[in-house]
Amino acid sequence: TAGEPSLTTSLTEQQVATPITKDITILFGSQTGNAQSLAKDHGSRLKELGFNVTVQSMADFKPNNLKKIRNLLIIVSTHGEGDPPDTAIAFHEFLHGKRAPKLEDFQYSVLALGDSSYEFFCETGKQFDSRLEELGGTRLYPRVDCDLDYEEPASEWFSGVVNGLNLQAESTAPNPISTIPQSIRDSGYSRSNPYYAEILDVINLNGQGSNKETLHVELSLEDSGISFEPGDSLGIFPNNDPELVDLLVKELGFSPTESVTINKQGEVLAFREALLTYYEITVLTKPLLEKFAKIAANPSLDELLAKGNEEKLKAYINGRDILDLIRDFGPLETNAQTFASLLRKLPTRLYSIASSYKANPDEAHLTIGAVRYHANGRDRSGVCSVQIAERIQPGDKLPIYIQNNENFKLPENPDTPIIMVGPGTGVAPFRSFLQEREEIGAEGKSWLFFGDQHFVTDFLYQTEWQNWLKDGVLTKMNIAFSRDKAEKVYVQHRMLEHSKELFEWLEEGAVLYICGDEKHMAHDVHQTLLAIIQKEGQMSLEQAEEYVAAMKQNKRYQRDVY
Ligand code: 2AM
Repeated sequence: TAGEPSLTTSLTEQQVATPITKDITILFGSQTGNAQSLAKDHGSRLKELGFNVTVQSMADFKPNNLKKIRNLLIIVSTHGEGDPPDTAIAFHEFLHGKRAPKLEDFQYSVLALGDSSYEFFCETGKQFDSRLEELGGTRLYPRVDCDLDYEEPASEWFSGVVNGLNLQAESTAPNPISTIPQSIRDSGYSRSNPYYAEILDVINLNGQGSNKETLHVELSLEDSGISFEPGDSLGIFPNNDPELVDLLVKELGFSPTESVTINKQGEVLAFREALLTYYEITVLTKPLLEKFAKIAANPSLDELLAKGNEEKLKAYINGRDILDLIRDFGPLETNAQTFASLLRKLPTRLYSIASSYKANPDEAHLTIGAVRYHANGRDRSGVCSVQIAERIQPGDKLPIYIQNNENFKLPENPDTPIIMVGPGTGVAPFRSFLQEREEIGAEGKSWLFFGDQHFVTDFLYQTEWQNWLKDGVLTKMNIAFSRDKAEKVYVQHRMLEHSKELFEWLEEGAVLYICGDEKHMAHDVHQTLLAIIQKEGQMSLEQAEEYVAAMKQNKRYQRDVY
């Protein structure tokens, strides 16, 4: 596995001035939890360095407090077409609006998270960065934009920020000198020190004849000391498909056993092994194609990358991989090392946990849809889901870690009603919610909207929901099977059919959760919610939007979407 980023070493070796107590605020805007875990991690390191640190979600930050801040670190991700995470929207709007204050004696630095396979890479971070400058702030350290493999650049950014802070501390308080404590990481397992969890079981939840293969996966956490909350996700370090790797090695013509250095720490792997375990080979990005073009010297690739061909480029990238790239624009006049250094690190895959730690402390369950499709002349498959579907047996071990997700949590008060909208694999966290509520004997009402293609083959965890309905752990359930009848029925149609009661639940303070597909489902469910509030609350669209905004502010509208 990858070594720990160089930060620890560089700081412990260095002697730095003890800062006079300096106040720093770290604000994070997180969708899947990466920005949040970086913020917490960096926050605790700064505390150990003697700073007075506040770490806060942008969702909880009172914009009026901005004027009181002298040092601000922003860690924020970008989603979809350059959008901020749900929890960052309000603060982002405030800062870009007329009410944003002039900032004086204000220093900041932005760490932007993103994915370079999207056009608007790190857009939200870029916007925060330039807006804070516009308002009068000065940069403590330049913004760093991170791709999916964010560890190394995030570490470098943090070292830069710490240096910046210490330089100022020196100028105001030149002594005394102290060393940084050795242990600046939590003990136990984490993304940078994954736990090897044994697979206990992999079950296909779909019946024969289904279009889908949805896997129920049980992992053992026995003796790991790992715990989690309902709503948290589990990250898996997957491997690429060996068949695809072998095709790629053959196409490239490099020796599979040739050594390549994979990171700045100088770790070495055999080329084939590196493609199998370390590099992403199934996704094309524009930056990758640009680097590739320099080596390939192929006029048709240059043409594809030329100005004015953006749409063509997008169409090419979509549904193709590195093997296509080499077949279409190769051969490459280069070696394994140079080729490898073009690639991104294989990102981990996050899955919402489908079980409750309180109910099953030794296990974590996942609900994973196997991704398979045919595109551009070849069968293609999701890296992690198909690894688990086809190449993992009970008894095997997978490197995993827990990703906390503050944006998707059961209400603290067990009496609070909850409404859960989770078609397909989106139902996973709601199994965890109900296991938890059953375990703690929660009294609050609960209502589940589930949908999938066919009742007979795709009713995931059917008997479990039915048992919970019988026991009263689940108060209500509505199902929408979209392909059983000529006309499509989706979860939002069921919501609309029950709009009166749904609005009553909202008025009673229910928390509404949406989990699953972002682009279509979550978007449509959101529109339906607005329609329901308009109709039942006799409100205008603007009023309904305010109603939902207030729900968000009060953590009564939470989404775990992908
Ligand atoms: P479909 O595949 O028949 O279109 C889980 O994947 C379920 O979500 C399926 O029944 C799927 O239906 C449905 N689904 C697809 N698009 C949706 C949308 N925009 N809103 C709600 N559900 C959707």
